[in-house]
Amino acid sequence: MSIMNNAQRYIRKNKKRFLDELIEFLTIPSISADPAYAKEVRRAAKFLSERMKDAGLKKVKVYATKGHPIVCGEYIVDKKLPTVLVYGHYDVQPPDPLELWKSGPFEPVLKKTKLHPKGAIFARGACDDKGQLYMHVKAFEAMMATDSLPCNVKFMIEGEEEVGSENLETFCREYREMLKSDVVLISDTSIIANDVPSVTTGLRGLSYLEVKVTGPNRDLHSGVYGGAVANPVNVLCDMIASLKDEQGRITIPGFYDGVVELSPAERKAMNKAPFSIKSYKESLGIKAVDGEKGYTTLERASIRPTLDVNGIWGGYIGEGAKTVLPSEANAKISMRLVPGQHPDKITKLFSRHFKKLAPKSVTVEVTPHHGGMPAVTPVDTDEYRAAHLAMEKTFGKAPIPQRSGGSIPIVAMFEDVFKVKSVLMGFGLDSDSIHSPNEHFGVFNYYKGIETIPYYFHYYSETKKDIS
Ligand code: BES
Ligand code: MN
Ligand code: MN
Repeated sequence: MSIMNNAQRYIRKNKKRFLDELIEFLTIPSISADPAYAKEVRRAAKFLSERMKDAGLKKVKVYATKGHPIVCGEYIVDKKLPTVLVYGHYDVQPPDPLELWKSGPFEPVLKKTKLHPKGAIFARGACDDKGQLYMHVKAFEAMMATDSLPCNVKFMIEGEEEVGSENLETFCREYREMLKSDVVLISDTSIIANDVPSVTTGLRGLSYLEVKVTGPNRDLHSGVYGGAVANPVNVLCDMIASLKDEQGRITIPGFYDGVVELSPAERKAMNKAPFSIKSYKESLGIKAVDGEKGYTTLERASIRPTLDVNGIWGGYIGEGAKTVLPSEANAKISMRLVPGQHPDKITKLFSRHFKKLAPKSVTVEVTPHHGGMPAVTPVDTDEYRAAHLAMEKTFGKAPIPQRSGGSIPIVAMFEDVFKVKSVLMGFGLDSDSIHSPNEHFGVFNYYKGIETIPYYFHYYSETKKDIS
């Protein structure tokens, strides 16, 4: 373990620089969804590749794809040793609404918060996922500099996670040999609290689509025509409202077919996780929670499928009042999926049902966007145990296995293409406002990640040694 202490000492000595480098990385607006930022996305890839080289990684290269580039690098200690593949994403969500940011989304600032008394870095991507992927670059640097990297490591950091990872599967298949590993290690999820570590053991899948309801061939005077012609906005609202019943269950026929239910024992265990409904409500500014009857908040947000409108528009939304009966109405809808559900099938079920719901007075179009498979990761494996031991070591208490409600669709893809399991050892907090204004990442969390990762490598290599 003394070799491990060297890495920890190195981390302590270089803390300030580790933070400064992340802050510089966060100034690059690598917004993958907006084509206007394609150059910035490439600049972020270049920046990352330079830092990966500086850290000591070999064969570092920015690979062009049909979309945004993928950055890879590796360090092979010995071909006979196990290999950890680190996955992350350097692209970020669009920052809008900009007016709700207290400081510029790409002008990182350090501020203390209630949950982050040691300070947090406020910037888009601070937690999701630039801050978390950069922990791996710095942990690798620390192991290299102190000669304590116990096994092989490969990095694959993409720039399209926030837009559905469209080119990653082709890339993984093409470079399957180069990317060969024994485990994929990902830090792109949360812990329960800074004093309640957890390892994520499941992610929900996703089906995302857009609907358009069209009525008359132009916007009409709502006095002259109102009452006699179907209003697409009213119709869309009715249709959406009918997608859930009074129990909060989704009414699309076949939607729940195959959904894997947890046993009463599993449900009991997951509800033992520390959770305060009071602070949950307080932190969100809501008076009551809402969701499917018969399930707790923790269950509703992780093991149950959902349907949510992400955006809705149509008609007049400018200043003042304009009397108009709109010609069309639109909505973006996401469904989070759980094991047993397939995004393609759910998209088909939705489309068929939604079109059936439409009255004769309108026409309906459904356009599917990206989807993703749900994933659960086993806890009785060497890969998982290493994360458990590493977190136990640095937090001073055993982490709790917990399923998350978010989606990282490539986890299922990795299992398919590489036949290896992923370990989801994230260090953010659910309250870090990822995808929202004022995203931040605790300085404590950043350093805790950098400290924990070398232990992951250590314990993972140790268990593998015992076997051979
Ligand atoms: N890192 C998130 C997913 C996440 C966040 C998982 C918190 C668990 C806890 C990831 O970057 C993300 O935002 N994924 C998208 C899906 C993707 C297809 C756009 C999501 O979950 O909405
Ligand atoms: Mn992410
Ligand atoms: Mn994200």
